[in-house]
Amino acid sequence: MAILVTGGAGFIGSHTCVELLNAGYDIVVADNYYNSNPKSLERVKELTGKDFKAYECDIRDTEGMDKIFKENKIDAVIHFAGLKAVGESCRKPMEYYDNNIGGTIKLCEVMRDNGCKNIVFSSSATVYGMNNVSPLKETMKTGGTTNPYGTTKYMIEIILEDICKADSEWNATLLRYFNPIGAHKSGRIGENPNGIPNNLMPYLTQVAVGKLECLSVFGNDYDTHDGTGVRDYIHVVDLADGHVKAVKNILEGNKGVQIFNLGTGKGYSVLDVINGFEKATGVKINYKIVDRRPGDIATCYSDPSKAKEVLGWEAKRDIEEMCEDSWRWQSQNPNGFED
Ligand code: NAD
Ligand code: WQD
Repeated sequence: MAILVTGGAGFIGSHTCVELLNAGYDIVVADNYYNSNPKSLERVKELTGKDFKAYECDIRDTEGMDKIFKENKIDAVIHFAGLKAVGESCRKPMEYYDNNIGGTIKLCEVMRDNGCKNIVFSSSATVYGMNNVSPLKETMKTGGTTNPYGTTKYMIEIILEDICKADSEWNATLLRYFNPIGAHKSGRIGENPNGIPNNLMPYLTQVAVGKLECLSVFGNDYDTHDGTGVRDYIHVVDLADGHVKAVKNILEGNKGVQIFNLGTGKGYSVLDVINGFEKATGVKINYKIVDRRPGDIATCYSDPSKAKEVLGWEAKRDIEEMCEDSWRWQSQNPNGFED
């Protein structure tokens, strides 16, 4: 019995591999290393003292994926593999639709052909679009996404729902993540973006470590407590634990489509994060206020109560711990896995 983790070498995938192994699950990883480094998996092995098979394979490679299912007994798939940069998705929509949507369909075909019909999918708070008011609940209307990346998540949710409707043997758990940050306490694995980061925390830590000069705060005229954007930051290890709970729930026979927000339920502004980081680490951040970033909303945070009720999961780590752990990873590995 094993869990196949697609995209397992990436940021959230590698942390989830650690938590799955620590919880006693056997895992198999499939990753094409497009946005990751196989060294992350070596570090997962080092941190857990456990071994597992990792295949360099694109999820769109039907033959390669079929071989993985034939060589291993896979009971469920946690599906992280995909492209995730919002701005890039606007420039390369075809690549995003092909990789994320095409890849998920190919993966599901191989799963079906091998009799494995349990999938946990990495969705995103982005599926709530621009028009819902926080706290966001799973019952709210989705759609109205503002970029191709977000639309792939919205469409994949619908595709998985249709697959479950058509065949009652399928079970799909859709996990809507809010803003994952932080890193494993060891400082051995963490987020390792290519080029200049788009997201707040990796940008901020690269300013702190001296790789970038100044953090631009995108707008201070939002209708929030200090005018800067408010988000629900969640520690990646809490998020990883949510996947362990979700996979347990699916393997215990909870049927059909289940949807959960994975967030803390608390909103922090950009300035709260900067101040929290400075307090947690003692490192000063050079920042300036600039114009709003197109497509951003003022406030986005979750109502995470469903995951608590059904999965018995809730986030435990606070913003200070998120900042400390992000900083430990960044300061110990200024060049990511190349150090
Ligand atoms: P990541 O880029 O670090 O990890 C994704 C992994 O998938 C990488 O290792 C990459 O090499 C691999 N991959 C990409 N395309 C592939 C393909 N066709 N075949 C095989 N492997 C492939 O990203 P992450 O932050 O760990 O995100 C994991 C998942 O969670 C993604 O689906 C992402 O969209 C989703 N998500 C992320 C966030 C976030 O802010 N990080 C928020 C919500 C949802
Ligand atoms: C957070 C806040 C910015 C960078 C994105 C995706 C979403 C999900 C998570 C995958 C906002 C501000 C940021 C900077 C800043 N990913 N900011 N200066 O936009 O909430 O969500 O990542 O599913 O789909 O859209 O995250 O980290 O980019 O921004 O002021 O240099 O920080 O305006 O208020 P976002 P983020």
